[in-house]
Amino acid sequence: MKFFVDTANLEQIKQAFDYGILDGVTTNPSLMAKEGISGEANILEHYAKIANMVDGDVSAEVISTDFQGMIEEGQKLAAIAPNIVVKVPMIREGVKALSWFTANGIRTNCTLVFSAGQAILAAKAGATYVSPFIGRIDDTTWAGMQLIYDIVEIYANYGFATEVLAASIRTANHIKECAIAGADVVTCPLKTIEGLFNHPLTDIGLEKFLADYNKLNG
Ligand code: G3P
Repeated sequence: MKFFVDTANLEQIKQAFDYGILDGVTTNPSLMAKEGISGEANILEHYAKIANMVDGDVSAEVISTDFQGMIEEGQKLAAIAPNIVVKVPMIREGVKALSWFTANGIRTNCTLVFSAGQAILAAKAGATYVSPFIGRIDDTTWAGMQLIYDIVEIYANYGFATEVLAASIRTANHIKECAIAGADVVTCPLKTIEGLFNHPLTDIGLEKFLADYNKLNG
């Protein structure tokens, strides 16, 4: 399972990269705004910086909601670097745009996916990745993880090549559950990935090992 970090913060991306476990980056307009990045030139420049920091895929989202606008924006984003993937919302015009990008060799990430039906549409349109939002489904008291199980099973049934990129991951347990479900990728903030480190027995065990060593070696 690949680990993507879900941020536009360069320091967080560097920290994730330094662990040696980073496979890519996802961003969205909210995350770009959080970093204070605005204006087309600055946005393109920021994506270029991120794409240069990692070997893996970097999702850059269009903000147009009409077919022509998405195509024009997507082409500009894809031209930044070979590892840029164009992120497109799951709306009617978005599915048309996904199909166009597929036909024209531009890789895509279909975002804002909240149902298996939407995931089928994304796969039929040839999306490289589909992004089901687990945490936001959990926020509504529905079971976000079930969507990952359903999509993984459906895609396996038909051999769809679209990769399941579990997004809106809020806990380390979500990451573990996604691995059990067979998600291809999880994307989450660095601190959620870091939650995987935590176990009190590791800390207690290390403290004892070092104390025993120091008894004899001072
Ligand atoms: O990539 C989608 C992700 O950023 C959404 O996460 O926590 O805002 O629901 P969240």
